[in-house]
Amino acid sequence: MSDNRPVAVIVLAAGQGTRMKSARPKVLHALAGRSLLHHALAAAAGLDPEHLVVVLRHDRDRVAAHVAELAGPLGREVTVADQDEVPGTGRAAQVGLEVLPVGLAGTVVVTYGDVPLLTTETLRGLVADHERHGNAVTVLTARVPDPTGYGRIVRAAGGEVLGIVEHKDASPEQLAIDEINSGIYAFDARVLRDCLSRVGRDNAQGEKYLTDVLDLARAAGGRVAALPAADRWQIEGVNDRVQLARLRRVLNERVTEAWMRAGVTIEDPATTWIDCDVELAADVTVHPGCQLQGATRVEAGAEIGPDSTLADVTVGAGAHVVRTHGSQAGVGAGASVGPFSYLRPGTVLGADGKIGAYVETKNAQIGPGAKVPHLTYAGDVVIGEGTNVGAGTIFANYDGVHKFHTTIGAHAFVGSHSTVVAPVSIGDGAYTAAGSAIVEDVPAGALGVARGRQHVSPGWTAKRRPGTASAAAAEAAGEPDD
Ligand code: UD1
Ligand code: MG
Repeated sequence: MSDNRPVAVIVLAAGQGTRMKSARPKVLHALAGRSLLHHALAAAAGLDPEHLVVVLRHDRDRVAAHVAELAGPLGREVTVADQDEVPGTGRAAQVGLEVLPVGLAGTVVVTYGDVPLLTTETLRGLVADHERHGNAVTVLTARVPDPTGYGRIVRAAGGEVLGIVEHKDASPEQLAIDEINSGIYAFDARVLRDCLSRVGRDNAQGEKYLTDVLDLARAAGGRVAALPAADRWQIEGVNDRVQLARLRRVLNERVTEAWMRAGVTIEDPATTWIDCDVELAADVTVHPGCQLQGATRVEAGAEIGPDSTLADVTVGAGAHVVRTHGSQAGVGAGASVGPFSYLRPGTVLGADGKIGAYVETKNAQIGPGAKVPHLTYAGDVVIGEGTNVGAGTIFANYDGVHKFHTTIGAHAFVGSHSTVVAPVSIGDGAYTAAGSAIVEDVPAGALGVARGRQHVSPGWTAKRRPGTASAAAAEAAGEPDD
């Protein structure tokens, strides 16, 4: 009895993807925060095969570099096999086998790099069915309303699978068959190797077809079978950007539904986009119009949105983040952000802190209970616990050549419309007067004032603006004479 762990999975990804009309290789296009290839390799890696191989050719170095980057997220190495100039899925599978040990025995799964919704569970079911029946080949199939372009599953009158015929090679009767080849198979390793060595290129496209293996395996006495897929989206490939958008929508429906079942309130799943690596705790509320991306994590009871985009942002329990754009930032428990806040990388807001309207932060550590409520740029700054930063404060961190850092202590008070010119520090409990340009340190407990003293000239309007509405208003107010 096998544990249904295949000896190898070969993921075919050598094709160009012409219909994407893109400078980017098709399998590097993304949905839900992962490339198409990442989705495909993750489903394959879930089977824990002894060997995981990806076959490349088009833009080979760029795709291979991406495959190397995926070793971390996948938790394993992926072997790259290079397809030569012989075209076709059969040749692709063959070069995949060629990088594996010659005596390979057991089940080999073949899938595509551009089928992103396929799950490990579906592949596991395919392998289990294949091994249970002792098949030479088992192909995953589907009945579709419009089979145009697909290979058709040809069955005998008794239902037994005879083989696959490609659309371009099919007879009119065969074109009427609505059961299609998904391109996802389980093979007996020895049968696959042997049959591929005998597959020719005598067909409408002059390609070496993997589909020809079925007929050859049957002729050699092997059992060839089809397993209908329970879920048609799982076998749907991406050929153009219309299909990419459709699959993105379907995957998002699945991701949002899973989170709702796990206890997350998503008010409008249709306008909420959640990447597959995001984590949400129970009783999180997501208001309409949010994109939660990358490694974003939201703790229990927090509320996000409406209309917020968070990429790689951590949000603590009970925090509120409203109409905010944030990346690589952390928001503490109970903190409040927005509306209209821009959190750039390195922003860390402490528990119960506040970042308010029209505030941009970058590399800013804002302590617990500290507030930066209105119209501020806070870059390269550490702000202590309980400190209040007045409206319109600018932390001037850049002299045109270099960046400098500002430190503000705990329970300090930065007066409205201060310009704090880095490098500078303001001590614990210190104040700065509104409208100051702070260029020197303000020690703990001191007041820093750095602005022109106000001079008042009584009666100025009557003398210098006679006959104006202003002069009349001043006179009516009983302006004092000078
Ligand atoms: C293939 C199947 C067809 C099936 C369809 C499902 C064959 C001969 N036909 O057709 O029966 O219904 O998939 O989508 O297998 N690839 C390579 N190297 C190549 C050619 C393709 O790696 O030389 C890869 C592509 O990158 C792609 C996959 O194989 O990921 C399928 O290639 P594609 O050209 O789309 O095959 P179809 O002609 O659509
Ligand atoms: Mg295709």
